[in-house]
Amino acid sequence: MCGIVGGFRRDGAVVDSLVDGLRVLEYRGYDSAGVAVVDERGLTVRRKAGRLAELEGEIKDGALNGASIGIGHTRWATHGPPTDRNAHPHTDVAGRVALVHNGIIENYLELRDELTAAGVELLSDTDTEVLAHLVGRELADAGDLAEAVRRALVRVEGYYAIAVVARGAEASMVCARHGPPLCVGVTDDAAWLGSDVLAILPHTREVIFLEDGDVAELGPGSVRIVRPDGTAAERAPKTIEWDAEDAGKGGYPHYMLKEIYEQPDVLAQTAFSRLDLDRGDVAFEGDLWDDEFLSRLERVQIAACGTALHAGLVTSYMIERLAGVPVDVDYASEFRYRDPVLVPNTLALAISQSGETADTLAALRLATALGARPATICNSIGSTMVRESESSILIEAGPEIGVASTKAFVAMVVAGYMLAVRTARARGRIDADAGRTLLEELRLVRPRLESLLADDAVERVRGIAERHHDAKGFLFLGRGINYPIALEGALKLKEISYVHAEGYPAGEMKHGPIALIEPGMSTLVVAPHDDVAEKVLSNIEQVKARGGEVICVGSDPDCLAVADEALEVPHTGSWLSPVLNVVPLQLFAYFVALKKGCDIDKPRNLAKSVTVE
Ligand code: F6R
Repeated sequence: MCGIVGGFRRDGAVVDSLVDGLRVLEYRGYDSAGVAVVDERGLTVRRKAGRLAELEGEIKDGALNGASIGIGHTRWATHGPPTDRNAHPHTDVAGRVALVHNGIIENYLELRDELTAAGVELLSDTDTEVLAHLVGRELADAGDLAEAVRRALVRVEGYYAIAVVARGAEASMVCARHGPPLCVGVTDDAAWLGSDVLAILPHTREVIFLEDGDVAELGPGSVRIVRPDGTAAERAPKTIEWDAEDAGKGGYPHYMLKEIYEQPDVLAQTAFSRLDLDRGDVAFEGDLWDDEFLSRLERVQIAACGTALHAGLVTSYMIERLAGVPVDVDYASEFRYRDPVLVPNTLALAISQSGETADTLAALRLATALGARPATICNSIGSTMVRESESSILIEAGPEIGVASTKAFVAMVVAGYMLAVRTARARGRIDADAGRTLLEELRLVRPRLESLLADDAVERVRGIAERHHDAKGFLFLGRGINYPIALEGALKLKEISYVHAEGYPAGEMKHGPIALIEPGMSTLVVAPHDDVAEKVLSNIEQVKARGGEVICVGSDPDCLAVADEALEVPHTGSWLSPVLNVVPLQLFAYFVALKKGCDIDKPRNLAKSVTVE
């Protein structure tokens, strides 16, 4: 949801670094891009609708070369269509200040009216431009950019991460956050800011994650942070352990494909160092994962969005059945407005790849305010959700760049499974032997995952995807713990190939969706060899009887035998079958999108991290 970068380097070569940073952050939004630099000639802004390549064309004249200070932005439109004039950076009337923004200024209409009444002509449709004018006005008065930003933000309601530069006697770069993420890093010769640690990592591993309300003034070797009331604050840097190369494509044509292939390793990273097989238990760090809290637990309230919600649904089956604790799963955007009632001893569990999704964060905060104990399953160390949780399970999936989430999903399900086992052990529902058997299953799943990514298995999915890519529509069916996998398969397909796909509980098909079945309609059925396989078999027969074509994904031999197309998945204990069954569905979505010529890593209208409501 918009990417922000900024750099201040003594050697006067900031433009290339800004473009490199924007390239890394383009996954956050990609409908326009822009940069602003300050040098002895003043402030220069270049911005362009379209992908980053358009902006690169715009600046290749070299006119911005030599500047030491600059900010950049890649946009996901909220206010105003993606045009040149709505692209960031925006400037104030005097052309002294340039500003980039991620988030939403909720009182922008009021601020806009006030500026218009004062004779300011607004040149864009964005909520951001008012901020540039406010900072410009305060700068005329305060003389110091950080102070001007601080004063301007006092007037602002909403959520923002911003970066600002100004020309003047002492050129400077300032950034601030309230809501969306922002981190900074300094070295002796430079200072960097970014809305994702990925933009900082090529320059330094020591990263400061700003807190809500922080205003930071950056210069080579220096970072000065003030709070909204003007008092100074200290923030210790965190050391980032993984490399920037981990975020590269590594020879794959798309990030999504690379991330699908990483899943066996991700499973190992999420799980293996935490398994205590002697005790048949899981070693998590954090008070909320102790026997004391888990044995008193009365309810788990999961809130999440999109793919993370599907991981939450799978987790709910595991926790309820293994640990005997009731679990509610809500779309975070619904939870926050439904006046929820929580019982005492509730664990509020936010599940999120980014740890910054606005709805999930708001749901976590609401549940905390209602007395629940906040926790998160998350991929982003230093994210707001992790910081606001009493305990977290970091899924260690590494950077996920493809907008369609894949490896984070598998890692979340694995984390959910381990939490279910831990809770079951804490409550005495299972003994060490049973715990060990369940956890050993994780080790067995890794080679099975690998087998699904062997060349012949992948080619088989490609063939089926190519035969079905033009179907009238797609229905995805699953039962029990694999019902969320049907939802996830349908979501992946819609997201990246723009075809209509619906996920449904298989038993619910006869209550409506069966009317869709006709020749030319493809139905993907998830069919593990489990206690509901027979029921799934009848669902397959019902689809076939109406002329629909069935693609069966799973391990049940009878279901595979009657389907028109079969994608066999190795059998595993029923708890972890979702981790395997999702893989052919991810690949199916990938190959349909590829055949249709879609932009797989940057699907239209989407953004990786949804930090607005
Ligand atoms: C789907 C997808 C989205 C995210 C959702 C939540 O492929 O990526 O549905 O799962 O926006 O994002 P996080 O997990 O960052 O909270």
